[in-house]
Amino acid sequence: MDKVLGIVSGKGGVGKTTTAINLGLVLNNFGRRVVVVDGDLLKPNIGAVLGVKLKEIKNHTIHHAVKNNKKLDEIVYVHSSGLKFIPGDHTDSSIKDLNKEVFEDMKSSELIILDTPPGFGEDTRAAIRICDAVLVVVTPEEASIQAGIKTINIAREEKVKITGIVLNRKREGSYGKTEIESITGIPVIGEIIEDKSFEEAAYNRHPVTYYYYDSSVTDGYKALAAKLLGEKYEGIQDKKERDSPINKILKKLGFKPLNL
Ligand SMILES: Nc1ncnc2c1ncn2[C@@H]1O[C@H](COP(=O)(O)OP(=O)(O)OP(=O)(O)O)[C@@H](O)[C@H]1O
Ligand SMILES: [Mg+2]
Repeated sequence: MDKVLGIVSGKGGVGKTTTAINLGLVLNNFGRRVVVVDGDLLKPNIGAVLGVKLKEIKNHTIHHAVKNNKKLDEIVYVHSSGLKFIPGDHTDSSIKDLNKEVFEDMKSSELIILDTPPGFGEDTRAAIRICDAVLVVVTPEEASIQAGIKTINIAREEKVKITGIVLNRKREGSYGKTEIESITGIPVIGEIIEDKSFEEAAYNRHPVTYYYYDSSVTDGYKALAAKLLGEKYEGIQDKKERDSPINKILKKLGFKPLNL
């Protein structure tokens, strides 16, 4: 697996930070040594989403590391779920001053998930440049998909691998996996439904995969994590089908199981 995986989008507000945190959390639960790093230094959000206050985190921020040449291993913070992360603060530092070696030097993690800023400016480009690969988050709207394509082109210019697209806020009646794949030419490797559980989890200051650990939303992140690891994942729906009494009987009789 690539060491630094950037979560990118182009359009703002499509779910980059949400994807970075929840993907990190499920990968951590899968036993992977992962750390989620806030790479949006202008408006860092990881700490707030994980419910930590700035005065608690003190020098455990990416801004502090950039300014003071700190090793990232020394400033990793741990959420109550066990997820390791490095948040930002609101002092003046730029991602342009962060070089790739600081990630390569990290011994505590095999994977760094880097949340990145939206847009197509120098900060976004600098964040993409320090990644080994990127995951492009799009929502099922024309503007988001077109912005995703622009970001894909930036990644190509910077010679950074494009691992795939995550379709976030998936819903009936809008662009789906096949259409997005044919428009962008990039495989959609994760699909996360639009759901009110995100708002409820946020209200309780926890990531949705921690607050609703056994939901179809969490299942979506687990399937994405398994795909990244190249492992097979049996989701809630697959389990339901396998365990249903009617399907057990049909299987015994040699018939195809029903899609429940
Ligand atoms: N699948 C979803 N269903 C419902 N709400 C969602 C979903 N994904 C994300 N959200 C909500 O959308 C809002 C924006 O998400 P997020 O902050 O992750 O976007 P972002 O791309 O990081 O934004 P920015 O570009 O400003 O950094 C948050 O309130 C989040 O809880
Ligand atoms: Mg964000």
